[in-house]
Amino acid sequence: MADASRFPSLIVVDHPLIRHKLTLMRRTDTPTPLFRSLMKDIGSLLTLEASRTLPVNPVDIVTPICPAKGWAMTMPPLVVPILRAGMGMAEGVLAVMNEAEVGFVGVYRDEVTLEPVEYLVKLPPRLTERSVVMVDPMLATGHSSAHAVKVLVRAGVRPEAITFMCLVAAPEGVQALAEAFPQVRVVTAALDERLNERAYIVPGLGDAGDRLYGTV
Ligand code: URA
Repeated sequence: MADASRFPSLIVVDHPLIRHKLTLMRRTDTPTPLFRSLMKDIGSLLTLEASRTLPVNPVDIVTPICPAKGWAMTMPPLVVPILRAGMGMAEGVLAVMNEAEVGFVGVYRDEVTLEPVEYLVKLPPRLTERSVVMVDPMLATGHSSAHAVKVLVRAGVRPEAITFMCLVAAPEGVQALAEAFPQVRVVTAALDERLNERAYIVPGLGDAGDRLYGTV
């Protein structure tokens, strides 16, 4: 595990339940159905931290007992999975934040250049006031993530309204994203050691999309 304290924008949600579930996900012998449900579970658990800055307004309500004060979201948040592995975490976000709307950004990493290639962008209109949780399980080089954040900013989202949520981050990826967008918060279940020569996270969990969809 690398030292998280050198990244001001990074929050590592260090919780025994998340550690346990992530360890199961890392294991080579974990089958696809279990991998998928664990990714959803951790997605839900991380949403608690990722949504910490969500704006809510005081409201007057009536309980069966008496009038009371409560809180209501000012606007539905937007969840944006980076396709395709982000879909597995988005399921977990929606399980605990069903008010959210969903946008999609499709970016893949060219195997030779390792550069991001954008192939799909589907976002709702009126994004300037939106809180966005962008999800991708693996923050590796940070190139695809920074590109996907750029897509959101281009569409009108304020960088400070974006939280990037992942399962496993590499220091290289956190650094690259912070250099491109210092205002974006990163919420992760773990900060791993490094990238290997093929830009996979070490120790990581392998190819998250392949393991999520059984295409290994
Ligand atoms: N993408 C993955 O799915 N795994 C890695 O380790 C790096 C990028």
